[in-house]
Amino acid sequence: MRGTHHGGRTEPCTAVILGAGGDLMRRKLMPALYSLGEHNLLPDGFALVGVGREPMEHGAFANLMRRALNESDELRGVNEETWQWMCKRIRYAHGDLTSGGAYQSLRGCLEDIETGLGERERNRLFYLAVPPSVFEPTLEHLSASGLAPRIADAAERPWVRVVIEKPFGRDLASAQALNCVVLERYAEHQVYRIDHYLGKESVQNLLVFRFANPLFEPLWNRQYIKQVQITVAESVGVESRGKYYEEAGVVRDMFQNHLLQLLTLAAMEPPIAFRADDVRDEKVKVLRSLRPLLGDGVPPAVLAQYAPADVDGESVPGYRQEKDVAADSRTPTFAAIRFAIDNWRWKHVPFYLRSGKRLKERMSEIAIQFRSPPVLMFGQRELEANYPSVLVMRLQPDEGIALRFQVKTPGVPNQLTPEFEISPVEMDFSYKEAFGEATPPAYQTLLLDCMLGDATLFTRSDEVEAAWQVIDPLLRKWEEHPPSRIPSYSSGSWGPAEADELLAGAGSSWR
Ligand code: BG6
Repeated sequence: MRGTHHGGRTEPCTAVILGAGGDLMRRKLMPALYSLGEHNLLPDGFALVGVGREPMEHGAFANLMRRALNESDELRGVNEETWQWMCKRIRYAHGDLTSGGAYQSLRGCLEDIETGLGERERNRLFYLAVPPSVFEPTLEHLSASGLAPRIADAAERPWVRVVIEKPFGRDLASAQALNCVVLERYAEHQVYRIDHYLGKESVQNLLVFRFANPLFEPLWNRQYIKQVQITVAESVGVESRGKYYEEAGVVRDMFQNHLLQLLTLAAMEPPIAFRADDVRDEKVKVLRSLRPLLGDGVPPAVLAQYAPADVDGESVPGYRQEKDVAADSRTPTFAAIRFAIDNWRWKHVPFYLRSGKRLKERMSEIAIQFRSPPVLMFGQRELEANYPSVLVMRLQPDEGIALRFQVKTPGVPNQLTPEFEISPVEMDFSYKEAFGEATPPAYQTLLLDCMLGDATLFTRSDEVEAAWQVIDPLLRKWEEHPPSRIPSYSSGSWGPAEADELLAGAGSSWR
């Protein structure tokens, strides 16, 4: 059965990737577009224009893209027939995106592609796969060139849409400034701010699980839920992105966007319909009720940095030894933050969020821990403390949902164990077992949604600002009063011991 939001048909369009010489194009966008072609989800009137700095013939660019597909670990080989279909539709324009040159070259390509197309078929999707420092000049030039005009009404044809990569700003003020630049030139319905976590199947499933099943929703509140833990753990380090990461750190890189998005989906009220604005209205309300959870004398957040260690017999450098990282850097690579949501549903239910690089394994999950029964008639106090009933949504890898609850251990009481014995067991749903196929990569879903004009999985201007509103005061506090030392954790561990203190006051621990 299909939900409403993928029911549309793609109209003819040209996807213009600004910054096509970069990593994102090679690793994510090109494989995603190819997969859409392979699954017959692109329209006949589809074309792709890459815009990069280097002068290059169309054919040379197509060859580069072919190589990217061959090397992609998101594809299982390249189908020659699909590639031939795609290859004919690839063009290349070049020049500096922060001056007029690139847009002249792009205009030539677009005219070439659109000659012979009906007026209503000249739809254009512009994807800003450029560094954040050039978002603003690129948007200004794009708009001034007349190639991507403002369109007042979403139903008007041809359409023009603009996709903006993360990070959207580096604090509240810069996000507001970027929103001004965007909204002076484009109507909100034309703008698609990407957070690739929203394109993950398991993340979308959160909404389906919550709102397509009547079973859990009555329990989804402060009366039955004791706490929520959201973990996004990575086993890799900063890899070749030291320069970017020094500026960003884990809170900007992961919390302001991905982790807060997961939190809003887990905590939001049911929207009145599965439509972009209805869903986003509810997410914004959660963000507006969110604040760091103070109390019990422990600061609401722990920041730390990975230290060198031997991991699986290999010696792994610490963050400060990574390329382009200062030897005395205080940029955090791990954070654990405790939040409260001040609304009727969640008052007094702590939300614990943690994320870090170089942790023990790659693992993302949302764990909903239920309260203990009011009367522990089987004497299971210890069991409740160590193995409480919990619903775990595994986001990656091994996407699925597990529910842990208590059952009676088979056997009759005897002289050795005169009491009833009970044990925790798990009911487990695994995507792979149930559906076989690997789930489609996030960019595939998101690019298709842009072409269909469905912004449900994209962040609206007020939403991105509301997320910064939560994060900004924390960042400002740390940046204005940096701690004299930043705790470290061994690469390959589950983070610093200090993170445990966040939960200790509530008598809990991290899963
Ligand atoms: C990106 C961050 O947004 O998400 C990276 O910039 C991080 O630092 C990545 O590694 C994680 O994404 P995923 O899909 O691998 O969990």
